[in-house]
Amino acid sequence: MEIETILKKKEWEKTDLITLLNCRDSAEEELFRHTRQLRNATLGNSVHMRGLIEISNICIKDCLYCGIRKSNSQAQRYQLEDREIIEAAVFAYQNHYGSIVLQGGERTDPGFILRIENLIKEIKRLSGQGLGITLSLGEQTEETYQRWFDAGAHRYLLRIETSNKELYRKIHPDNPQHHFHTRLNCIRLLQHCGYQTGTGVMIGLPFQTVEDLADDLLFLKEMDIDMVGMGPYLEHRDTPLWSYRNLLLPQTERLRLGLHMISCLRLLMPDINIAATTALQAIDPQGREQALSIGANVIMPNITPLGNRGNYRLYENKPGMDEGAEESTRRLAESIRKSGCEIQPDAWGDSLHFELRTKKEG
Ligand code: 5AD
Repeated sequence: MEIETILKKKEWEKTDLITLLNCRDSAEEELFRHTRQLRNATLGNSVHMRGLIEISNICIKDCLYCGIRKSNSQAQRYQLEDREIIEAAVFAYQNHYGSIVLQGGERTDPGFILRIENLIKEIKRLSGQGLGITLSLGEQTEETYQRWFDAGAHRYLLRIETSNKELYRKIHPDNPQHHFHTRLNCIRLLQHCGYQTGTGVMIGLPFQTVEDLADDLLFLKEMDIDMVGMGPYLEHRDTPLWSYRNLLLPQTERLRLGLHMISCLRLLMPDINIAATTALQAIDPQGREQALSIGANVIMPNITPLGNRGNYRLYENKPGMDEGAEESTRRLAESIRKSGCEIQPDAWGDSLHFELRTKKEG
C-alpha cells in the first residue's frame, strides 16, 4: 500500500506499521513530514525539559543488557548524597527546567523508600511546589508508588523493554524477580495510583524483529500510556548480551529504526509526550534533535553532578559524560531552536493525553 494511503487512515494494523517502519527515501520523508506537522498541529512546537538526576547505580536487578546490573563487578557503584540531589534540583529550578527526573538503579529496602519520600517532599518544599517530579526507580509495591505519589511525585517512567513475552524472557534472568507480568502489573499500578505513566521499549535488541516493534507500538496504544521514552539498544561489554552482538543491526540502522518508531508512535498517539532519548544521541550527536523534528516533544538533559556522571553507564559510549550541566543546557537550547522547536521554560509540561483522559474520567 502507498504511504500516503496509510497516513490517511484513522486506525492502523500491524501490516501498516511494518510498512512504515521499513520505508525509505521519499516515503520516509513523507512519513517524517506528516508526523512533524501532526505534532505541531496537536501540541505546537514546544519542547519540555526535564533535568535528569541519576541518583545511584546500585541495583538489585540483573537485566542481561544493562551495564549497571547487579552482577557487573566492573561497575563502580555510587550513590549521590541528599545534598547533591537537592542541589541538582535547585539548579534545574533556577535554570527554568520546570521539572526533574530522579532515576536510579532499583532498590526496595525500607530505608531507600523513606529516603526517596523525604527527598520528594524536600524538593517540592524548596521550590514552593513549583518543580514537577518524575520518578524512574523501577518495580515497587503499590504502597510504595502511592507513598511517593502522595509525597508529590506526579509522573513515573517504567519501560516494558519489549512487549514480546518470549523476547522479554530472553533478555532477563529466568527468575521470579524478572517476570514480564510483574513489570506489566507495575505499569498498571502506576496508572491506578494516578501517575502520568510512561513506558517504552528498546529498539534493535538481539532476536527482535520489525514485527515485534510493530506489536510494541500497538501495545503502547492499547495501554493508553501518557508518555513514552524509547531508544536504540546499545551493547555493553560487561553484560551477558554482549555475546550476541554479531546478531545486531549496525548502529546506524538501529538509529533509523528508533526514529521510525518515534514517528509512527506520534501517528498513533498524537497527544502523548514522547522523549528524544539519550541513546539516540549515543549513535549520532544530532540524534535527539532529529527525533524532536519528527514528533518527539520532551528532552531530558543530564544534570547529575559531574563527579558521578561516568558511573551511570547503562551502555557504552554514553554521551555527555564530561559536560557540565550549564554548558550542556546552553548548547542544547541552541540546537533545539535549530531543529525548529522552542523550549517551554518553567512548565511541568504534562502530557495533553493525560489531561484529556482525566477530564473524561473525572
Ligand atoms: N541499551 C539501551 N538502553 C538500555 N537501557 C538499559 N540498558 C540499555 C542498553 N544496553 C534502558 C532500559 C531501561 C532504561 C533505564 O535504560 O530500557 O529501562
